[in-house]
Amino acid sequence: MLIRPMRTRLVGLAMLAGLMTSFSAPAVEAAPRPDITKDLFGTLSDGTQVWRYTLTSGVLRVRIITYGGIVQRLDAPDKHGHQANVVLGFPDLAGYVEKNNPGPYFGALIGRYANRIAKGTFTLDGKTYHLPINNDPNSLHGGTKGFDTKVWNATPGRTSDEVSLRLDYTSPDGEMGYPGTLKATTTYTLRGSALRVDYQATTDKATVVNLTNHSYWNLGGEGTGGIYGNRLQLNASHYTPVDSTLIPTGQIAPVAGTPMDFRRPTAVGARIRDDFQQLAYGQGYDHNWVLDGSGFRLAARVSDPDSGRVLSISTDQPGIQFYSGNFLDGTLYGTSGHQYRQGDGLALETQHFPDSPNHPAFPSTVLRPGQTYRTATSFAFSAH
Ligand code: BGC
Repeated sequence: MLIRPMRTRLVGLAMLAGLMTSFSAPAVEAAPRPDITKDLFGTLSDGTQVWRYTLTSGVLRVRIITYGGIVQRLDAPDKHGHQANVVLGFPDLAGYVEKNNPGPYFGALIGRYANRIAKGTFTLDGKTYHLPINNDPNSLHGGTKGFDTKVWNATPGRTSDEVSLRLDYTSPDGEMGYPGTLKATTTYTLRGSALRVDYQATTDKATVVNLTNHSYWNLGGEGTGGIYGNRLQLNASHYTPVDSTLIPTGQIAPVAGTPMDFRRPTAVGARIRDDFQQLAYGQGYDHNWVLDGSGFRLAARVSDPDSGRVLSISTDQPGIQFYSGNFLDGTLYGTSGHQYRQGDGLALETQHFPDSPNHPAFPSTVLRPGQTYRTATSFAFSAH
């Protein structure tokens, strides 16, 4: 079934009730307009206020906080119309400040460089740069104080059929070791049953950039258990094998005949404990898949057979990191107070390949003055 707005159904019932009690023509109510509101989510120790924006459109409700541009909640209906929060997260600001980094990076905007850079080092135009090592021996997700820890400047927008939240952050030259002043803009747009994320960045010196969103999905509902029964489809015939520190070896390997083959919908857990060296390194799936095709296209689809929820992810990026929540170890309690254990959520991070600055054969992540980095990813929801 396609998601039908709850309000429409209620209106339908009201119309029926109206017909039963009188024969006067019932009022026709228009679908609710997309809306955006804000409330104070918390205050940082330096006094900075962190706002939470609530975007609603049709049956979807998304909550985004200005700290890290984090998707804190996303409520979507199941096949019976019951709403549930389908992203992992924390109920309050303290959770994100104290436990998200180092930690799982729930829902956060990741920059300047999503994923790993080997030994925190890369050379650009003959100059070598050093980044914080925060995932020994590598640099992960932009360093110790990446974009996920910044308070972004928020500008809400609204038209008759969509609502948006534009987030701006200017990263000073040299921040976390990266060259150039990077002006980054991320815009979340909610329209119909899809959340679209547009990223844009410019620099005043040659640099590298790779932005993504790090939401963990549990289509059965956050805190309800594991995702190994979810069926995953990846539009990818190849992936980038890694070494034991999860850095790509440089090889582009076919998925055919391996547990990495998700070209047809397959349960996440079906082969996750197979005797396959790549799965041992990260205790499950934690790899970059090389997406087939180019341009804005379907990259991944996840479905939860019980709730019927389906998430379809489209992007213009060359890769996607599928991470099966391997390092959730029971130490964190999430938004609804439930313990998060291994495999309780999965992340699908659209991206350029990990460690690209050290692999000239991978698609380039270099951004130069005068150029504009632009990329988009959409998360579309349905239920059947
Ligand atoms: C990485 C994982 C890491 C997780 C949380 C993912 O993008 O691939 O290895 O544990 O982020 O930091």
